[in-house]
This record gives sequence, C-alpha cells and structure tokens, in this order.
Amino acid sequence: MVKNPSWLEQAVFYQIYPQSFFDANGDGIGDLAGVVQKLDYLQSLGVNALWLNPCFVSPFQDAGYDVVDYYRVALRYGTNDDLRLLIEEASKRGIRILLDLVAGHTSIEHPWFRASCRSERNEYSDWYIWTDSNWTSSVPGLSMVRGYGDRDGCYITNFYYCQPALNYGFASPDPAQPWQQPVDAPGPQAVRGEIKKIMKFWLGMGVAGFRVDMAGSLVKGDPGAVETSRFWLEIRRWLDEEYPEACLVSEWSRPAMALTAGFHVDFFIHFRIRGYHSLFRKADGVGPGVDPYGWSYFDRAARGNIQEFLDSYLGHYERTNGLGFIAIPSGNHDIVPRLGKGREADDLALIFLFLLTMPGTPFIYYGDEIGMRGVDGLQPKEGGYDRTAARTPMQWNGSAGGGFSHAPAGQYYIPVEADTGWRNVAAQEADPASLLNRVRRLIALRKAHPALQASGGFSVIHAADGGYPFVYRREAMGENIVVALNPAAHPVEIRLSGGLFARPLVKLYGQDEALTRDGAGWVLRLPGVAGGVFYEGSRLP
Ligand code: NOJ
Repeated sequence: MVKNPSWLEQAVFYQIYPQSFFDANGDGIGDLAGVVQKLDYLQSLGVNALWLNPCFVSPFQDAGYDVVDYYRVALRYGTNDDLRLLIEEASKRGIRILLDLVAGHTSIEHPWFRASCRSERNEYSDWYIWTDSNWTSSVPGLSMVRGYGDRDGCYITNFYYCQPALNYGFASPDPAQPWQQPVDAPGPQAVRGEIKKIMKFWLGMGVAGFRVDMAGSLVKGDPGAVETSRFWLEIRRWLDEEYPEACLVSEWSRPAMALTAGFHVDFFIHFRIRGYHSLFRKADGVGPGVDPYGWSYFDRAARGNIQEFLDSYLGHYERTNGLGFIAIPSGNHDIVPRLGKGREADDLALIFLFLLTMPGTPFIYYGDEIGMRGVDGLQPKEGGYDRTAARTPMQWNGSAGGGFSHAPAGQYYIPVEADTGWRNVAAQEADPASLLNRVRRLIALRKAHPALQASGGFSVIHAADGGYPFVYRREAMGENIVVALNPAAHPVEIRLSGGLFARPLVKLYGQDEALTRDGAGWVLRLPGVAGGVFYEGSRLP
C-alpha cells in the first residue's frame, strides 16, 4: 500500500489566482498580504489547503508561468517574508499552502536562458534544448523558435515562444541529431538537481507541496512518459524520506500514469481525458478542448448523459484506487466558461453536492463557491487570451469594485464582473440558504464522515444511460452513505431494489423524504434540481 500524507484524506483544496483574490495595498492587483487578510474567510469556508498560481518574479507573459527567479516572490505580490507570513498564518488556521512549480520551462528572460542563448559555451548552454543549427527545418512533435540570440540553433518551447523548454533530455536520442541529449547527460542532470533545490527551498519555508505545471511532458520523445515518470519517482522517494507530509499534485490529466509516477493527486480535467467537460460545460461554443459530444450532465434541460463521465472516470478510479487521488476541480484559471455562467444558485449547489461527495481531493476555484460567472470579451491579459474571462477579481461585496481593492475599479488588473447581484460574499454571508452557506455545509459534512472523504469507497447505484437521476454510494469504516442527484428541471422517480440498504436511511443533507420504503423495494423521488445525502442506519453516529 502506498503511503500518502495523512492530511489528504480530509483535504479540500482552494485555488487562488493571486492577481485576482484580494488587493491589500491598493495598486489594483491582488497580493499575498491580501490572501492573509482573507484567511478567516477561507477557514470559515472549511477549506484546508490552498494552491497558489505562480507568484514568483516574472515578466508575466503567461501570467507567471514564465519564471525568471524561482527563489523570489514577485514584487507585485510582496516579498518572501510575506509568503512566510502567509504560511504561518494559514497554518494557525489549519490551512496548508501549495505553490505552483513550473518545472518544464522558464521565461526567455531567465538568466539561465540568457546565458544559454550566448554563442560561447557556458554553464547554462545545455540547460535548454537547442538544435545545432538556426536552420533546423522542424522537429516532429516539438515546437521551436529560430533566430533568437546569437547562438546558432533553434530552441524548443513548451507553450508560448517565451517559454523555452528546460532540458530534461530525450528518452531515445536520435543518433543523427547529436543535439538531442540523453537523460543522464550533464545538462539534464543539472536541471533536475536545480528543480530539487527549488522544491527544498520552499519546503524548508513550510509549504505543504506543489502543483506541478505540465508535469507529464518534461523528457522529450518519451512515449508512455517512462523517463519523465522515472524523474518524478526519484523526487517522490526523496520526499517520502525527507518530507513525508508534502504533497505533489500534477497537471497531467492522466491519473493512472501520474500516480504511478509518484504524484499523490492528479487532475481529471479536459486534456487527454474525455468526460470532464461532459459534467459541467456545455459543448456549444465554449472554446477549444471541449468534449466533442452533447451537453453537460448538470443541465436543467436534461440533455446530458452521466455515462460519458463514468465511462472515463471509472477506469481512472479503478486504476488509481489505493495509489493516490483524483481531483475533479470546479474549474481553474485555464477553463472557460466559469462554472457559474448560465447557472443559478440551486444548480451550482447541486454541482457542489456532487464535487464534495466524490472520492479523491476536491478543488474549488476561487469564486466558484459564490457563483462567479467571469466576464467575456475582455482585453487579453498577460497571455490569458480567452482564459482572461475566468480570471476576474473575487467578488467580496456588491459595490462597483466588488470590494476587491480600494483602488478605483478602472485601475484593476482585470475588470470585475458588473452588477454581481447575489454573486458576492457579503450578500451570501447572511442568508443560510445561500450557495456559499450550502458549500460550507457540504465541506463540513465531508469532513465529518469518513465515507465521504478521499479514499472512501465509491460505487454507482443508478446511472441510467442518458437518464436522470444519478445515485451512488460512498463507504468507509462501517459508514454507508448514499448520494442522489437530479440536475434536471423536471422531477424524477425511480425504484431501487430492496436489498440495497439493510437499514433505514437518515437524511444528512438536502431533500427530505427522498428515499422511502415501497413494498419490497425503495422509491427515490426528487423534485427538479435537487439532491440529497443519506446515511444508512437508524441513528447517526
Ligand atoms: C498550464 C497552466 O495552467 C497554464 O495557465 C499555462 O499557460 C501553461 N501550463 C504553460 O505553463
């Protein structure tokens, strides 16, 4: 059995895009002091781990995923001391901090890359992947930039032109292309050593781990990511020995591969995996990466099919069960549209009922707990392009600037949603039935019941192809919990076999009297857009 940090069992993560969470110094952009000021809110929400998008020195050509100094917090967010304070203050409230580790590439402005661009050989010449001629025509499967700097070669990029790939080597270098280095060459080995040093630096300051950007694509020409996995497994062995409570979350989107490669958690998101968008994001015109089929399951018009999700998820779940955890996020800074777009509080509460009762580690993208919709048609900001829509400032209150900053709203880094209505924290605090308060109750429920936590068992009770509702069981330590969801606007009624539950069912959350005895069996009745969580046993523990 693989040993995972014990805190992951009850972890509920919250992703903070630091630019847009809270601006404490009034310059129109979020900062770490702003996160510190909002820790009480996060504690009251019940989340116990934060993932911060990159907050290191950067020219921000890709929102900080283009680092120039891995050891220093970007001035606009504060200083390393501010990060240290955030870690300490968060820890007092039982909240852990995860940083974003951009392991695959740096900014073109990083001093390592600048040195690597020079024509004379130096310490950093082999830290990036350069072909041996500026006229290399193309390299299958890789993108490259020619004509940059004096060095006679093209450099390989990972994402934008300004993100040159660090050199982790090639799994099977082509002997006809001597610039392709093996993974054990000095350059790739130095890069690996440096990544470990960066991790050690922040772990030493008290961070609880890292979300690793593009974790699966470090070594080039590596089918099955065999060599990339070997690297992460080495890192995992080191963590297990020196930092056994540290957690590695991958942006890989291949849970079985990532967890076998040593990650504790991998995202179930839209790349490579079918099924994520089939949950919440309709296929009509929401941009690239969308599943090619139909409508989302969480759709009032009941046009979705939960089987599209299950066909994919169950395989990943079975292959990773006992190894680590799958994270199904409510959204993230790359995914448009935001969950709240086109949905009302009841629809969103039902989605959170699903997200917070599934196995693995839930991730809430800031603002999803209050139904933020994002803003379409914004000027692209710092490499966000259409993703900018999902990166707007957190809505703390109903004022014109959303209470994000005391700078005039016109000076915000990204404009705030106009006319937030109920979609802000202040409006929802006072209302016990608000989305925010329902999310709070669901997080508390998850923490109170081992069956609902990360490694509690999961099995489908009812998921008729194309039909509604969706019913599943979670179980652990003698607890047996049933979750029933009806995202459709119309009421549903189904019969369940008598043998399913040995004892009476007690409602823990949601719809009253949804499950009743009927002769030898059970009947589940749910009104439109409703659901519930039911505990098997005549008395609660
Ligand atoms: C994935 C990150 O989530 C995204 O925002 C970024 O643009 C790319 N990786 C490149 O680092």
